[in-house]
Amino acid sequence: MCGIVGYIGKANAASVLIGGLKRLEYRGYDSAGLALLDGDNVRVSKAAGKVANLSERARTDWTPELFQNAATGIAHTRWATHGPPTEVNAHPHLDETGGIALVHNGIIENYRALRSRLETKGHHFLSETDTEVLAHLIGDCNKGDLFQAVCDALHQVEGTFGIAVISAKEPGKIITARRGSPIVIGVGNSEAIIASDASAILAHTQRVIYLDDNDIAIVTADAVDIRDLNNVPVTREIAELGLDSAAAEKGGFEHFMLKEIHEQPESLANAIRGRLDLQLGSSVLAGMGTSQRELADLSRVVMVGCGTSLHAAMVGEYAFEDLADIHAEVQQAAEFRYRNPILGNRDFVIAISQSGETADTLAAVREAKQKGAFVMSLVNVVGSTIARETGRGVYLHAGPEISVASTKAFTSQVSVLLMMALKLGRGRRFSRDEGLKLAREIESIPELVRRVIEKNDTIAEIAARYVDNEHAFFIGRGPMFPVALEGALKLKEISYIHAEGYHAAELKHGPIALLQKGTPVIAVACEGPAKDKTLGNIEECRARGARILGIVTEGDHDAEEVMDDFIAIPRAHPLVATIPATVALQLFSYHVAHLRGCEIDQPRNLAKSVTVE
Ligand code: AGP
Repeated sequence: MCGIVGYIGKANAASVLIGGLKRLEYRGYDSAGLALLDGDNVRVSKAAGKVANLSERARTDWTPELFQNAATGIAHTRWATHGPPTEVNAHPHLDETGGIALVHNGIIENYRALRSRLETKGHHFLSETDTEVLAHLIGDCNKGDLFQAVCDALHQVEGTFGIAVISAKEPGKIITARRGSPIVIGVGNSEAIIASDASAILAHTQRVIYLDDNDIAIVTADAVDIRDLNNVPVTREIAELGLDSAAAEKGGFEHFMLKEIHEQPESLANAIRGRLDLQLGSSVLAGMGTSQRELADLSRVVMVGCGTSLHAAMVGEYAFEDLADIHAEVQQAAEFRYRNPILGNRDFVIAISQSGETADTLAAVREAKQKGAFVMSLVNVVGSTIARETGRGVYLHAGPEISVASTKAFTSQVSVLLMMALKLGRGRRFSRDEGLKLAREIESIPELVRRVIEKNDTIAEIAARYVDNEHAFFIGRGPMFPVALEGALKLKEISYIHAEGYHAAELKHGPIALLQKGTPVIAVACEGPAKDKTLGNIEECRARGARILGIVTEGDHDAEEVMDDFIAIPRAHPLVATIPATVALQLFSYHVAHLRGCEIDQPRNLAKSVTVE
């Protein structure tokens, strides 16, 4: 997620802005920039890499007087979504005249159409970003009133934004607005600081105003005038942050993992937004760079990944076979490259990775390319090595995932795999109506997850009953089998409980020997073709004294009756239900680990990205 800082006050704007960007560094980024008002000019300095690079660059680009005396400016740390992480793509971006500067967090979905229209009017673009298009659009709408120009431009925008805008022709003010990306305004003594995250404001004031969607504000050193996009005044109360800086980085949550679990309705909305075609009943995954004709020629899907990404691939295997009528298989990335895989040009290899830097997955990509397969990636970090070496694929748009335990990346990976399977299935098998039905199921995923997160307190109470166990079994069938594996991985990596995931039918082929009175078995038994068989396996476990925690479908009282405890999730298509079921297990694992006093965000022995074999 990008970071935004704006400052208007007495002087020293450059130092305040750079200090604010440093407070936002934890969110992850790949480049940074800032712009200052300097008389009739807007001065911009940008740098790829760390904020320290920008600070050094700005001191080289600008005079000490400007650095010390400028009183108004905006700044940005970029987490690339459109265009690689380069200096030219870094924000701020300028309009055609160079007199208006903009920083932006979010995704402008219709930026290509807007750019074409502006190019026919003579606009020239330097970057590949959607943000630069918005800067030019504001300039194009500017008839001498910056506030009105921003309103007029935003009325033409489809997508999400959190922005801050300055103009050399209208010094002494910053225009800021939001839709879908947070903006908070710190109100100080003859100064104001705007940010995408309260952690950038804490050093200056605890008094803040949170903008709501479609709010737009004129911010000066002494006043904040908030309107809606139709220029109707709105009232927003000044709140007291009551946060210290460490807490603010986590958005008030105790751990990044809990913050990222709670971000999932938003991160999933970002993964799905603009990618479902509700006219054709299909999906629109431009990054795949393939025609329906090319997809129709494919004979097999091979997915490679590690850890949580491997589990997402396993859900994808069911999705491609059930929905797209194509043979699908999953390979652990390290195994894939050493087994001399049999691959050809009709094999569709998908490398799945949050970081895009996992050594084994990268090596699998290179091996698949050697074998002439059709290769693409499904990654979260834009411009990462795997993304670049596959050259095509789909970005998760989940925002930076800080906690070592992967949560929002997994649910976005599964969502994108479902959309890929819908796209293949629509071309090979589905009618429009069948495709539309599934597309609407996928569209409902953020709401399904929100309803599970609402049960956080209930899940915490249940977790308290499982804190003292040193062993646990997770079981499931069908697409809920990889969900069981993922739940076991979450619990073991943050609570250090020895948790194992098994196919529900597999227990009686040996592992059931380990069951004793009270041994916890977490059973994913949601509505679906395999539910009754799973209930039978649960009875086998109960007969040996196990304590059963069930993940069940809301209203399924038959299933509830065979459980000692249960977490009920909303009814959904069996493949879609894998996502809310996983979120329930994420919260369960988090609360068990928290009650055990574990470190959680940085578990022992683990790294966020395993860049070695
Ligand atoms: C998941 O919680 C772990 N952090 C780990 O298994 C991770 O999924 C694995 O290392 C793969 O990472 P990647 O998705 O960045 O490739």
